[in-house]
Amino acid sequence: MCGIIGAVAETAIKPVLDGLGRLEYRGYDSSGISLLSNNEIQTIKAQGKLTNLKQRLSEQVLDGECCIGHTRWATHGRASVTNAHPHQCGQVSVVHNGIIENYLQLKHQLAQWGHHFSSATDSEVIPHLINHYLSQHLSEEEAIAKTVAQLKGSYAIGVLINSTSKNLYAIKQGSPLVISQGNEGAYMASDAMALGSDSGKIYYPNDNELIKLNTHDITLCNDSSNKRIHYIKNKQSSDAISKGQHSSYMEKEIFEQVDLMKRLSVSNDTDEYSSINFNQINKITIIACGTSYYAASIAKSWFEKYANILVEIDIASEYRYRSPIVSEKELTIFVSQSGETADTLAALRYAKSKKAQTLALVNVINSSIAREADFSFEIYAGPEIGVASTKAFSCQLAIFYKMTLEAAKQREFIDANEISVLAKNFMQLPYLMEKVLQRCLEMKDMAKKLTKFSNVLFLGRGELTAIAQEGALKLKEISYIHAEAYAAGELKHGPIALLDEQMPVLVIAPKNGLTDKLLSNIQEVQARNAPIFIIGDRSNKQYINLQEDEFFELPEMPESIQALISVIPMQLLALYSAQQLGKNVDQPRNLAKSVTVE
Ligand code: AGP
Repeated sequence: MCGIIGAVAETAIKPVLDGLGRLEYRGYDSSGISLLSNNEIQTIKAQGKLTNLKQRLSEQVLDGECCIGHTRWATHGRASVTNAHPHQCGQVSVVHNGIIENYLQLKHQLAQWGHHFSSATDSEVIPHLINHYLSQHLSEEEAIAKTVAQLKGSYAIGVLINSTSKNLYAIKQGSPLVISQGNEGAYMASDAMALGSDSGKIYYPNDNELIKLNTHDITLCNDSSNKRIHYIKNKQSSDAISKGQHSSYMEKEIFEQVDLMKRLSVSNDTDEYSSINFNQINKITIIACGTSYYAASIAKSWFEKYANILVEIDIASEYRYRSPIVSEKELTIFVSQSGETADTLAALRYAKSKKAQTLALVNVINSSIAREADFSFEIYAGPEIGVASTKAFSCQLAIFYKMTLEAAKQREFIDANEISVLAKNFMQLPYLMEKVLQRCLEMKDMAKKLTKFSNVLFLGRGELTAIAQEGALKLKEISYIHAEAYAAGELKHGPIALLDEQMPVLVIAPKNGLTDKLLSNIQEVQARNAPIFIIGDRSNKQYINLQEDEFFELPEMPESIQALISVIPMQLLALYSAQQLGKNVDQPRNLAKSVTVE
């Protein structure tokens, strides 16, 4: 996902460069700015990290009142200076986040009008179209409106036009955009985290609202009713975020989970979810991507086991293309840390079109998914910067756990005593998480041994299969070691053919009703000389003569919260493996923090 930022201020270049720095967490491969200075637009771009752009800017004295900037995560056209944004045509420069699906037709039309293109991107058609309509003497606002009317797909764009008006324009459709009126300037960005301390009040434009920013004020252009902009307080400013004494945001966010669970489990009050009438729904469908999908998988188990509600889960990019049967008595839940994942947003829109009730479970409460759902709940994880999701996953599970307790109370499927036991189990979370994190160095030793391999199989049973899947995702996305996860019982149905001395198997095996079954799966593995690592309770060790760095003891814990505790060693294993391999933990290659393209 790309990042866009723009500023109109006395010295506009600084807030833009600072904003690009705050957008780095989203993942990118090139960056650039356009600056309106001395009645001309100067565009400077660089491949690679932001320091390369800053190096190029340091070679010249630059400043001006209007500036736009961009971090690019390549979709159309490889990472290069030519394909980096901003894209300029004549007196128009544009930054874009999203995908223009009909860019080839538009490119063809523009070429017939005599336009030539320098990049392989879809975005470059935008400044050319605006420039074309300006040359036909349309006003700036008319030229932009006529341009976006022709765009199919998703976009959030910032437009800089070299004219005496010194206006900056912003408009979106489907991609995130936020506007802010500060004391020293006016700003636009892909997300509120890119805005600095001068952005206390923000506004999230609706699709196709054309916003004009200049040194005097911010106005809605295409709204004859002179609609006022209703600002809200910016809760996402990233100035409050630092790594502290940690080596990465991911490490900080892993260790932050104890305090977060303390806050979420201070009371097992579930009233916040009493607005959901669980007795009126005949089915829950939970839709998400990646780590959020694994949280959905565990929530499915809880809702069915403790509240007797039928739950279906689906990957957002598959959901709407399989013609799902959606009933009006169904609750569809969309789980998304960023609240901007395009696949999940598109699935939400599909469910709404089928008249299903839609609920968003997000970490960014003003995000697109939160705003478009019938109702939305926050997971209270605070800004998550590391691309690999950790604390958000735990908070998603914690909120689902509380929702399950509320559903159990309403449906009376289990009795009040059992509900009270589940609630007490939840209160143990911070203490048990802290116990595991205190022994984090043991996971460093395990990572040292595991990083000698190029592949890893993760095994779990029941709810913990999803934790095995999450562990495999964490490891591969930041250490680039290939990892797969299976329900342990599946091993003998094919994957066991992979086992040999070079295929280590990591088993998540806390003490529960499936331990005996799991131990026989472990012996299947041992019989084929595959290296084995166990994240389990002490009793496992009696069966298997493991080395210290091949066994991590999980504390005794109630079954209902084992998923929340077992994921912590998974997160640590991925973190330490990536560190040992010298990988960029917070910004792994090819990845973005939120994928706002389908
Ligand atoms: C998780 O570590 C990954 N970065 C990725 O799978 C992520 O969970 C997925 O893209 C969904 O993001 P969302 O929760 O913001 O929708």
